[in-house]
Amino acid sequence: MEALNQKSLERVVSQRALQMGSSFPCQICVVGFLCGVCLTSLFLAALTSFGSFQFGGISFSSISMGTPPGNSSSEIINDVTSTDCKFKLKETERRVDSCRNEREAEDERVSLLYSAWGALLTESVIEEREFSKRFGLERSSVPNAPHFEDCKLSARVNTRLDARSENGDFPPWTSWKGLLDTYPASAANEQIKHFRHRAISEGAYPPWITGSDEENYPLTRKVQRDLWVHQHPSNCSDPNVRFLVADWERLPGFGIGAQIAGMCGLLAIAITEKRVLVTSYFNRADHDGCKGSSRSSWSCYFFPETSQECRDRAFQLMGSKEAWEKGMIITKDNYSSKAIWAGRTPRQVITCLTNLVWGEPWSYLQPTTEINGSLIAYHRKMDRRWWRAQAVRYLMRFHSDYMCGLMNDARHAAFGKEAAKMVLASLPREWPKVEVTSNSRSDIEEFVWSSHKPWIPRPLLSMHVRMGDKACEMKVVEFKEYVHLAGRVRKQFPHLNSIWLSTEMQKVVDKTKQYPHWNFYYTNVTRQVGNITMAKYEASLGRKTSTNYPLVNFLMATEADFFIGALGSTWCFLIDGMRNTGGKVMAGYLSVNKDRFW
Ligand SMILES: *[C@@H]1O[C@H](CO)[C@@H](O)[C@H](O)[C@H]1NC(C)=O
Ligand SMILES: *[C@@H]1O[C@H](CO)[C@@H](O)[C@H](O)[C@H]1NC(C)=O
Ligand SMILES: *[C@@H]1O[C@H](CO)[C@@H](O)[C@H](O)[C@H]1NC(C)=O
Ligand SMILES: *[C@@H]1O[C@H](CO)[C@@H](O)[C@H](O)[C@H]1NC(C)=O
Ligand SMILES: *[C@@H]1O[C@H](CO)[C@@H](O)[C@H](O)[C@H]1NC(C)=O
Ligand SMILES: *[C@@H]1O[C@H](CO)[C@@H](O)[C@H](O)[C@H]1NC(C)=O
Repeated sequence: MEALNQKSLERVVSQRALQMGSSFPCQICVVGFLCGVCLTSLFLAALTSFGSFQFGGISFSSISMGTPPGNSSSEIINDVTSTDCKFKLKETERRVDSCRNEREAEDERVSLLYSAWGALLTESVIEEREFSKRFGLERSSVPNAPHFEDCKLSARVNTRLDARSENGDFPPWTSWKGLLDTYPASAANEQIKHFRHRAISEGAYPPWITGSDEENYPLTRKVQRDLWVHQHPSNCSDPNVRFLVADWERLPGFGIGAQIAGMCGLLAIAITEKRVLVTSYFNRADHDGCKGSSRSSWSCYFFPETSQECRDRAFQLMGSKEAWEKGMIITKDNYSSKAIWAGRTPRQVITCLTNLVWGEPWSYLQPTTEINGSLIAYHRKMDRRWWRAQAVRYLMRFHSDYMCGLMNDARHAAFGKEAAKMVLASLPREWPKVEVTSNSRSDIEEFVWSSHKPWIPRPLLSMHVRMGDKACEMKVVEFKEYVHLAGRVRKQFPHLNSIWLSTEMQKVVDKTKQYPHWNFYYTNVTRQVGNITMAKYEASLGRKTSTNYPLVNFLMATEADFFIGALGSTWCFLIDGMRNTGGKVMAGYLSVNKDRFW
């Protein structure tokens, strides 16, 4: 009996039951199946209370050992319904009722926890009294939400990791992650201090790079460190520090991917010319979600590309005729679009600290991209692919408080209910009537576990499906081709069943219903219907939504375990770059097409 494979039994039985759901006793059984938990007890009760129960020669073990679903289970159902259900109707009804009550109570608890978390997320300043009035429980007895990031804490930790120390050294980058570095007991130990100092002076651990060197593009750590050093001179007022000030592209035809790719080109120019890149007006952040100085600025979403001192200095120099004449300041207009879009990839940077040479790391990029059934070991413009990956990773190295909040919202909407179920499974059944004191924190929570990423259902495959007006840029691929590729991944990794779907097309979302064996997640946003242009569609969403939701999808794709997209689109090209500098090289990349320049 213990060997009973409950899952498979439930599945075969419920399939069958739904087909036969019209006869009365079976309806009862169907209700029973819906309370999956109670199914076994129903059967067990039937078995134990009926010594002479007939089973038509079919044993449970034969079901769990792979009898094709359909046939034998129907006989069981027939047996159960004909012999057992009829006699035991009353008892079954009672059981079903209690099943249903339990299920309802469970659903209520899930909803309660889900909305309590939601309130804490959107109204972080909600009053204790208001909170307990609304939810009937204290804030302190709401367990931690595993899918939330503590944005205030992250911003504090990352701000510290993004600024030089007072004597101009690297920030405290060591192989100690997150808050560990602030653990009080280690601050006093001389030997630890010595090693810490040595690690920092090498700057070998830019903290935004995860994964080993093998799991990232060649030289990622070194290049990220060098980019940071280049963009953060120790004294921005030094007359030798020169600047390139650039607005983000803002022609209406430019998608957000093209804007970022353009900035990657400008960063390359800045590095080559030994100028500090300062980004200026960012039209997509020109909305009221971006408050204060982050309005119309990249820093609304990500940490700024350079220090505040350098930004201030550059904008001050913009007003100085002398600075222009001396070439201390230069803008995007000084470069042709060819130089920006197809410029030379920086091969080396010389900083005040050391003379660093990168060589040509792109010539040994790991061949982990598959297109049309074969791995691509070599292609044209490998240097650009490598460089864009480095540049976009640098520009997006730390999320702003605002971006962090958007990710929390997105995770809560998509995975919040699942998270609530998970958490409730470890709470007493009486919650919230009994207090839980799960929120007490000791050092290991504070310093070690605090650095973990928020929970998402893993493994997760991210899929970016773009059709519509992309047809002019690349060959458009049908959704079923994407799902086919997802099936390939699942064959190798059968525990994969979740897809984060990122698409502008309502048609694509509708098609997900044809694939019930996949669990699709997507953001709740109005989608493109028919063939209106992307620019028109974005305008209809408004600037805030049309920026926030692609960025959320972008970062989710970066975090996902697997990715399927179209290398022919700039957007997917950038996602690929983020993944290849985010420890995900070995996840491989299945592309439905190749880059249009290869
Ligand atoms: C079910 O069993 C019957 C005979 O017992 C057989 O004819 C039929 O093909 C089987 N159906 C399935 C789906 O296996
Ligand atoms: C930065 O450089 C300027 C100009 O050379 C100098 O006046 C200033 O003292 C320097 N600041 C620091 C902190 O060294
Ligand atoms: C950059 O462009 C401005 C205005 O077009 C011009 O005055 C300036 O000389 C240019 N600078 C360089 C270094 O070419
Ligand atoms: C894909 O590969 C097959 C055989 O390897 C080839 O016949 C086909 O033309 C390829 N398709 C594309 C779009 O390259
Ligand atoms: C999706 O968003 C719309 C409008 O913003 C809202 O009315 C609707 O309830 C949302 N749906 C879900 C499932 O959250
Ligand atoms: C799509 O656009 C074309 C012209 O660009 C138009 O003729 C056609 O009617 C449009 N189709 C739909 C379904 O809107």
